[in-house]
Amino acid sequence: MKKTVSVIGLGNRGTEYMGFIKAFHSKKVELHSLCDIRQQALDDIAPDFGIPKERCYLSPEEFFAQGVVSDGLIISTQDASHYEITKAALETGYKTILLEKPVSGNHDEYIELRDLAKEKGALLIICHVLRYSNYYSRIKKIISSGAIGDIVSINHTENVGYFHFAHSFVRGNWPNEFTSTPSILAKCCHDIDLIAWFMDSPCVSVSSEGGLRHFRKENAPEGATAYCMGGCKAKKDCPYDAEALYITDPFYKAKFIKHMKRTLTGKKVNSKEDIVNAIKGGDYGRCVYYCDNNVCDHQMVTMKFENGAVAVLNMNGFSDKMFRECHIVGTKGELIGYGTKLKMRIFGGKATTVHTGSPGVGGHVEGDIRLVSGFVKLLCGDRTDLTDITTIEATVISHDIALASEVSRKNGGVPVILKDYFGKE
Ligand SMILES: NC(=O)c1ccc[n+]([C@@H]2O[C@H](COP(=O)([O-])OP(=O)(O)OC[C@H]3O[C@@H](n4cnc5c(N)ncnc54)[C@H](O)[C@@H]3O)[C@@H](O)[C@H]2O)c1
Repeated sequence: MKKTVSVIGLGNRGTEYMGFIKAFHSKKVELHSLCDIRQQALDDIAPDFGIPKERCYLSPEEFFAQGVVSDGLIISTQDASHYEITKAALETGYKTILLEKPVSGNHDEYIELRDLAKEKGALLIICHVLRYSNYYSRIKKIISSGAIGDIVSINHTENVGYFHFAHSFVRGNWPNEFTSTPSILAKCCHDIDLIAWFMDSPCVSVSSEGGLRHFRKENAPEGATAYCMGGCKAKKDCPYDAEALYITDPFYKAKFIKHMKRTLTGKKVNSKEDIVNAIKGGDYGRCVYYCDNNVCDHQMVTMKFENGAVAVLNMNGFSDKMFRECHIVGTKGELIGYGTKLKMRIFGGKATTVHTGSPGVGGHVEGDIRLVSGFVKLLCGDRTDLTDITTIEATVISHDIALASEVSRKNGGVPVILKDYFGKE
């Protein structure tokens, strides 16, 4: 018999995962029930997956009132709702749950969920999708093989992309640390998770510097208006002009935000007029200098690990392209990753290009696909070994480091000793 999965939160992430289940796993798994607080989302998405109206719910309360209706559950709502919904899922009795990152911006909440999952015997997997990609799995394998010796340092940069930063962390869903989470957690808990996974040693202390440098009203160019299409006189030379980014730029130049039409309007099918109206008067049409954002647009985090190694993470909101760079230095050699290209240099030997099997496309779609495959395997009992799986136990450290980096940054960069700050975990 097929296993069943329900989904709460039918936005970009939830529907992507549903698409992968339908495309790659429909012999073993079928979608069961859907929940979203927007009727439009249910109306748009349910028919594509053949889910009848009676299995669509407009609130998590209504959904959980049905008891356990499926073998697995995907929770892909926005950050601030993860804690409440996951707690309800565990208390209702769901045993295999895939939860979007970040778990929560509150330490007590993610520790409570970790403990509750353990008490209930549930498997709570966090969507740190990068770990599942061929590229990062290959790096982990090389490190574990001892080929580059013991790790001495990691220097990792997440180049967010200027257009992506403006879309998500200025105009969009994650601009405010109080209503969402700090950008170092929202954007980079993945990267921190990778660093901690590669290090395989407890993190001892963290320090951080950074801030909101650019997207402030005092940096607005002369003639800027609240909305880009509201008569702005600075549009021509502004790389953040929403009209260009979302409407008039040719497709090749518009990077990934041309795929974000549903985010702009809330609807699956959009006319040109819908998009123009969304940019004229909606959140994504606002001048980037006049938004209510407060999250850092650049931040560096330094980490020290128990094995003596150190790591630096650089979150950079201002790159032309979206890509990650990683330089991993060991006692016998080094790995240099640029985007999805990987070079290995063994000291005294030759530099080699490592074929990672990564398709080399931008973003992390490959990791997303493999994350869903991993979830399906666990759900179907085809895999029981949890090595390298991003369970909540394994993910606590990424969240602790992110939160500690904020404490450090807000205190002038003083080092935060994790054990002292968070106490015994
Ligand atoms: N793993 C990754 O690589 C990755 C990438 C981007 C975003 N994310 C995370 O995924 C999550 C979802 O992001 P997204 O871009 O899909 O967002 P989204 O806004 O596109 O989708 C969220 C959906 O949840 C619905 N929703 C909101 N509150 C709800 C509630 N209480 N109950 C039921 N439905 C609710 C919304 O109506 C919306 O349809 C976020 O937490 C985000 O940080 C993860």
